[in-house]
Amino acid sequence: MAKLIIEGGHALKGQIAVRGAKNAALPILAAAMLVPEPVRIGNCPRLTDVEHMLGLLRALGCRADWGEDGLIIDAGGARTAELPEALAGSIRSSVFLLGPLVGRFGAAEAPYPGGCDIGNRPVDLHLKGLRAMGVKVDEASGRIRCLGRPKGGAEIALEYPSVGATENLIMAACGAEGDTVLVNPAREPEIDDLMAFLNGAGYDMKREGSSRIRIRGGRRGHSTAHAILPDRIEAGTYLVAAAITGGHLVLRGARREHLSALLTVLREAGCRIHCEGTDLDIEGPERPRELRRLVTLPYPGFPTDMQSQVFALCTVARGTSVLEENVFEDRFRHGAELLRMGADCYIRGRSAVIRGVKSLHGATVTAHDLRGGAALALAGLRAEGITVVEQAERIDRGYVAFAATLRQLGAAIRREDE
Ligand code: UD1
Repeated sequence: MAKLIIEGGHALKGQIAVRGAKNAALPILAAAMLVPEPVRIGNCPRLTDVEHMLGLLRALGCRADWGEDGLIIDAGGARTAELPEALAGSIRSSVFLLGPLVGRFGAAEAPYPGGCDIGNRPVDLHLKGLRAMGVKVDEASGRIRCLGRPKGGAEIALEYPSVGATENLIMAACGAEGDTVLVNPAREPEIDDLMAFLNGAGYDMKREGSSRIRIRGGRRGHSTAHAILPDRIEAGTYLVAAAITGGHLVLRGARREHLSALLTVLREAGCRIHCEGTDLDIEGPERPRELRRLVTLPYPGFPTDMQSQVFALCTVARGTSVLEENVFEDRFRHGAELLRMGADCYIRGRSAVIRGVKSLHGATVTAHDLRGGAALALAGLRAEGITVVEQAERIDRGYVAFAATLRQLGAAIRREDE
């Protein structure tokens, strides 16, 4: 168990470099299973979710070692296609291994991932897609058992552009002898990073317009090196940290084209943002302006993974903001915690109405999920007095050295591990 203890009221100042994206790293590590030779992954963030995924790969017989040039994974020795229950249960993205295991061995077995801290997260689209590729999928007794090699020739239309299902199906399709086409795939940049890794490793796939991905079958994986793309959510979180404290930050190595929905919103809130190459310079306003209506959507819409941080920003806005969460069913738990800090918000179903208050005050609050936890810490940076964020280990899932990074930027924040 960990706690963050924050004394609010310090405007952030300074520069930081954006790290590699968690949501690209996890599927790429799973995809290493499709390559029976060593692969080198650069810019991989050392996060708890990443370490869990490496634990799973090792349990399946892969070697995974951190070196000076990055992470080396060698799946040459992988023999089993059955994920151990204890390890797989601790991380939802273990489901990502179904696709590559089916692609490589024609078999996979994993515990059912079930619900999680931001609502029910079914995997029906993943399994439907695998079935459409000719894989036999059995869901009895809380486990998912897949049998059979994906057959080429499938055209799979996703009812919803699920990020995880798109990634899983791409990886499974690598094992088919013929082509597979995904219709209505997700458009998140992390998917293109996964495709770039697999193309570099000898597979062959590309987007056909914005609504199809074609994966050519009959290829084999070979050694490659790949650098993970910068994390747009980590970058976004530090941008909001500058915005909420009225600070001035420079983010280095950011990809502004992946941040455009957020940058539009931050400008609407009164931030001054200047981009030069991969540098992003942001100056926060004294007090943010309200956001009339913000709706989360699949990429390139506003990302659900930035909703809680922007929610925190709206609590101190001049007027009333309305947020609508369209991607996950239960992603407003930070709202109840922010009430303890003096926020004035009302949540009903997937909508939140937030009346900005002049100031928040410190309180003891709980991080119920990764991004919600980060949002509470951001609110604490602005609040008067001391904020304690409990269960802060949840924040470690997505941010490398979160407290230390904020401290480097002038925040009064420390971490206590119990
Ligand atoms: C990924 C990201 C997560 C981000 C989310 C949406 C990773 C490791 N995680 O999660 O940070 O918040 O994209 O951008 O990359 N759904 C179904 N059936 C399915 C699959 C999904 O109903 O088979 C629903 C989900 O319950 C959810 C919505 O579709 O309501 C979006 O889920 P999805 O795009 O699959 O997100 P993840 O891949 O889980």
